[in-house]
Amino acid sequence: MACFITFEGIEGSGKTTQIQLLDEQLRGQGHQVVVTREPGGCQIADRIRGILLHPDNSAMVPRAELLLYAAARAQHVSEVIRPALKADKIVLCDRFTDATLAYQGYGRELDQELIKQLNLLASEEIRPDLTLLLDLPIETGLGRALQREVDLQDNTEGRFEREAFAFHQAVRNGYLALAAAEVQRFRVIKADRPQAEIQRQILDQIEQFFQQRQSR
Ligand code: TMP
Repeated sequence: MACFITFEGIEGSGKTTQIQLLDEQLRGQGHQVVVTREPGGCQIADRIRGILLHPDNSAMVPRAELLLYAAARAQHVSEVIRPALKADKIVLCDRFTDATLAYQGYGRELDQELIKQLNLLASEEIRPDLTLLLDLPIETGLGRALQREVDLQDNTEGRFEREAFAFHQAVRNGYLALAAAEVQRFRVIKADRPQAEIQRQILDQIEQFFQQRQSR
């Protein structure tokens, strides 16, 4: 069953862990699953990710950033997402077009309509069937993300996590506005909870979603 599920949320919302857990669960049920992420997911897009997130590139202007996210997405959709859906697989993707609306639109204040057009171009008009928004307060998310950098002693992707608090607040509010505007597609998951509880919320939503799909 081809199905495209995206995960969204601010830094430190726990998406990556939850995607791994859901992947295990779905595979256990016999589904064929592809786990991927943006920016990245294939070699060319991973190289673009390296440019986008490297602290040396903090002078990058928002328009350049927007175009690089779009370029990475175009490659990723062509190489990974479209073929996987065509092969009837479930695709779990860590961030997708909503991230561009939230970060470059609400966060950087670039024109939303322009971003929507670019998203359509880059995604070949592929839209997620379901989007799980892991929502939590900025303070909690950023605290987790910074701790991860310290633990890993990895500073190569730290640029976004040092952004101003107001930027992350705008991104969070942006995500919530996107979710409110598309209640059919989005499910908001309370992510300031223990990991097992977040997983439970996600599994409930996935079960409901599959049931709704089957009864259509
Ligand atoms: P990650 O930490 O979830 O892997 O995401 C990398 C960063 O890229 C994160 O700060 C959000 C940012 N991002 C955008 O600003 N726009 C986008 O379109 C995408 C996909 C990610």
